[in-house]
Amino acid sequence: TLNLPCLLVVVGGTGGTSVRQASGCRGLSQLAELPETHQLLRQTCRDYADKELIPVAAKLDKEHAYPAKQIKELGSIGVMAIEVPEDLGGAGMDYLAYCLALEEISRGCASTGVIVSVNNSLYVGPVLKFGTEEQKKRWISPFTTGEKVGCFALSEPGNGSDAGAASTMAHQDGDHWVLNGTKAWITNSWDASAVIVFATTDKKLKHKGISAFLVPMPHSGLSLGKKEDKLGIRASSTANIILEDCRIPLDNMLGSRGAGFKIAMQTLDSGRLGIASQALGIAQASLDCAADYALKRTAFGAPIGKLQAIQFKLADMAVALESARLLTWKAALLRDSKKPFTKEAAMAKLSASEAATFCSHQAIQILGGMGYVTDMPAERHYRDARITEIYEGTSEIQRLVIAGQILKEYQL
Ligand SMILES: Cc1cc2nc3c(=O)[nH]c(=O)nc-3n(C[C@H](O)[C@H](O)[C@H](O)COP(=O)(O)OP(=O)(O)OC[C@H]3O[C@@H](n4cnc5c(N)ncnc54)[C@H](O)[C@@H]3O)c2cc1C
Ligand SMILES: *[C@@H]1O[C@H](CO)[C@@H](O)[C@H](O)[C@H]1NC(C)=O
Ligand SMILES: *[C@@H]1O[C@H](CO)[C@@H](O)[C@H](O)[C@H]1NC(C)=O
Ligand SMILES: *[C@@H]1O[C@H](CO)[C@@H](O)[C@H](O)[C@H]1NC(C)=O
Repeated sequence: TLNLPCLLVVVGGTGGTSVRQASGCRGLSQLAELPETHQLLRQTCRDYADKELIPVAAKLDKEHAYPAKQIKELGSIGVMAIEVPEDLGGAGMDYLAYCLALEEISRGCASTGVIVSVNNSLYVGPVLKFGTEEQKKRWISPFTTGEKVGCFALSEPGNGSDAGAASTMAHQDGDHWVLNGTKAWITNSWDASAVIVFATTDKKLKHKGISAFLVPMPHSGLSLGKKEDKLGIRASSTANIILEDCRIPLDNMLGSRGAGFKIAMQTLDSGRLGIASQALGIAQASLDCAADYALKRTAFGAPIGKLQAIQFKLADMAVALESARLLTWKAALLRDSKKPFTKEAAMAKLSASEAATFCSHQAIQILGGMGYVTDMPAERHYRDARITEIYEGTSEIQRLVIAGQILKEYQL
């Protein structure tokens, strides 16, 4: 049940084919069997990226500027709350749709991509899955002014990969929870209206003592650290969230007491598909840029695209990209059909993030000196790609997840 009128308003009708031809991506991903609604959504996001994101991405990056206008417009297409049922104000679409949209958006601007992904997978996702009807109404629906985004606060300065070691405390005081501690690296924090905080109600229980809490922003007892000055995805904000006697009503707990770690891990399974899609977008943008350049740039009297050395690079980039895309789609389809997808999501995230790093690296090589300067987008793609191997579980953590699942299968 795609929101077609909305989509059409934003793209101003069809006419996507010519945009696509101009953008230089020669049909790599044209799998004919995608449902028509999904193709339409992808085309809409593709056109939006070409017209509204690619032209401003370099400026947003340079100025570390939050893309407020673009996020609002993407909200009106429906991609800021893609899985949310229509009666709660969302688009009521599936996860494959989400992956397609996020790839296209990230192809245009990877910072915008991560802002979209955090609202969808890390904020809306857990409220939708673990929230009571009351909480869904309160924390999802009223947000639909189209301007608010949420964030997800799991990592701490002293522990990222080892999230079970989180030490932010929640203690009960009458009819309130009181939160104390520091959360680190929180994407969207400077721009958000709500945050899901993971905190422990019982330190002795280790990860089983962690619970999830919904906190409105701003809020007394909650403050933000400095905006981190990052290598890439510079148009998205990242900062510490500091909680000092931050009091919230008891019914702001999401899920049951002690269920926080499980909520976080299940949320990240889905979130990883968002990051995989973000990485695919960066990889595709790198390939687009490199292939266009190879056709136009001449050396020794002929286009460099005639050189086998360049052709082999393009071929290897396309293989890395397309195989990661198929893994991502497979994981999304498993999720959409309610089958286990933890292993596949980790595989997708690992392979897509490594494909993004590889493709953006190779693109710079193909562009030569022009790859190294900000006149061309290749250097931004290279900087943006790097984070996809780190957040929502580093590549090492993905390998641990994959191996853990494999060994479990062999034990059966
Ligand atoms: C730009 C940005 C945005 C982020 N956004 C968010 C957000 O919105 N919310 C949030 O909660 N967090 C966020 N993070 C945090 C991110 O998820 C963590 O940085 C990441 O999980 C790694 O944790 P760490 O930095 O503490 O590294 P560490 O855990 O200290 O890891 C350091 C190194 O050791 C390796 N390592 C650690 N444990 C193992 C192991 N058992 N086996 C093998 N290798 C291991 C890691 O792979 C890594 O190479 C963000 C980070 C950044 C940089
Ligand atoms: C983020 O998701 C919430 C919850 O569904 C939604 O209400 C909000 O409008 C989204 N943000 C934007 C900017 O669209
Ligand atoms: C987790 O990090 C915090 C600081 O952010 C630290 O106080 C705490 O001791 C760490 N937890 C463990 C188990 O090391
Ligand atoms: C929480 O932090 C505040 C201020 O930092 C402090 O006064 C208070 O005692 C702390 N509460 C607990 C339970 O640790």
